[in-house]
Amino acid sequence: MAYQIYPKSFMDTNGDGIGDLRGIISKLDYLKELGIDIIWLSPIYQSPFVDQGYDISDYYKIAEEFGTMEEFDELLEEAKKRNMYLVMDLVVNHCSDQHEWFQKALADPEGEYADYFYFVKGKNGNPPSNYRSYFGGSAWEPVPGTDKYYLHMFAKEQPDLNWENPKLRREIYKMINWWLDKGLAGFRIDAIINIKKDPAFPSFEPDGPDGLASCVKMVEEVQGVGALLEDMKRETFERYDAFTVAEVFNMKDDELREFIGEDGHFSTMFDFSAHELFQGQNGWYGCRPIEFREWRDTIFASQEEAQGIGFKANIIENHDEPRGASRFLPEHARNEKGKKALAATSVLLRGIPFIYQGQEIGMTNCRREDISEYDDISTKDQYREALNAGCTKEEALQCCYENSRDNARTPMQWSADANAGFSDSAPWLAVNPNYTEINVEEQQKRPDSVLSFYKKLIALRKSPVYRETFTYGRFVPAYEEADDIFAYRRVSEENGQEILVAANYGTKPRTLKLDREGARALLSNDGKEKSLQIQIERERAVTLDSCEAAVLLL
Ligand code: GLC
Ligand code: CA
Repeated sequence: MAYQIYPKSFMDTNGDGIGDLRGIISKLDYLKELGIDIIWLSPIYQSPFVDQGYDISDYYKIAEEFGTMEEFDELLEEAKKRNMYLVMDLVVNHCSDQHEWFQKALADPEGEYADYFYFVKGKNGNPPSNYRSYFGGSAWEPVPGTDKYYLHMFAKEQPDLNWENPKLRREIYKMINWWLDKGLAGFRIDAIINIKKDPAFPSFEPDGPDGLASCVKMVEEVQGVGALLEDMKRETFERYDAFTVAEVFNMKDDELREFIGEDGHFSTMFDFSAHELFQGQNGWYGCRPIEFREWRDTIFASQEEAQGIGFKANIIENHDEPRGASRFLPEHARNEKGKKALAATSVLLRGIPFIYQGQEIGMTNCRREDISEYDDISTKDQYREALNAGCTKEEALQCCYENSRDNARTPMQWSADANAGFSDSAPWLAVNPNYTEINVEEQQKRPDSVLSFYKKLIALRKSPVYRETFTYGRFVPAYEEADDIFAYRRVSEENGQEILVAANYGTKPRTLKLDREGARALLSNDGKEKSLQIQIERERAVTLDSCEAAVLLL
């Protein structure tokens, strides 16, 4: 069971409004009690924070904002004491423009360090190609005093590193091994598919009013990322038996086995299939509502795809996505019962479950009145795009409310105290005002809270009796024809166990007939284990009310 920490918003202990390593250390017992084994930290390296730490200026230093290397070592030590593994973020498609390498490259654009990046001659006074960066605008920025441009697929402060250069690769491997030597369990690997470029940088048919084409097109067409990934694995992770979970978008069809199969490039990779459904054709303003069945069937297809190949890492949300409770739950289910149903259907899927901070108490999206209240670089870009496309300010803000990455980045809601118990002073990003109702302290007291349910769910998944089935059991869709029902079985070939996970996402009660006698109700999200058991024995069926979820041993 893994848990993602977004350090800037997790826990502040020195009153500067920014979460820190001491804060993480102070909450290790909380995570242990929840049932967490693996902790992934979003970047804590030195950074100008243009993209919240995903722009690293020194891979060997801890950001001052977060603490010191001694505190990091202490965190590692304290996690170990509790039998928890620490995983850091590995951001090596790009670095910060403040990194020494880039500064040296700018100082001598013909020198050795220029070759750590993509410094490419423009064409007739224009950039080398018409790529649009992920954060908007051209992916090329002029190199001052030259006729060259440097490539940045993300912000212009995040120049892309040249993975074709063996010297650069050696530097990266040395750094990875340096961290693994410290006793790190592994890495979450950022934007890794992007490391392979087509050196010809072909232009593509423009796909937006700005006359540019998404740089994704080049990523989708270029061949050969596998060789780079294998090289990295051989020189680093493999030597330490390290755990790796990759952020991979735009993988080519049929490559899953190469990525996460036995001997694959990575231990696992995130399943973003449900999240991708919500991405509009032209950014956030082009998003469309998603039907329940489309969402469910997408997850099912993804589960079946991985079967027999490897494990995907299942998420409801992360620091780049809005809150799952606000996105995946229909209006009528945006309550504790609905959040628990979402937890049950997600956590028990086949794969490695990751929880994102605050998900375990059902934190939600946060409405803002003005774009100035957002901090995220991508939100600002998408807001501009929406206005350019003719949306009103209200419509553009609605897009941000539904999609902004800042929805997940508001401070963790620890209590109903000032600043949600996150900090003694004003946090770097305003708290979600609903912290007075949704917070850890309140939920810890209540056995029927979302938090208490997550604990039960994780304990069930990890319990010695069912662990085998929840880990290795086959995923088999169930009751696919029933309206509003999200149900599947986990079937163990090892011990013959069969477990049914079922939830009703609709507004009306639904009855599911069981195909055999003797089922046992293991868990209900509404405290109804006993009444479900009685119904099973009398009717060989279970009735699930709106937003109700149950786990049965068949
Ligand atoms: C990944 C990160 C995201 C970041 C981007 C660039 O997608 O998760 O937060 O902005 O890479 O590093
Ligand atoms: Ca702090």
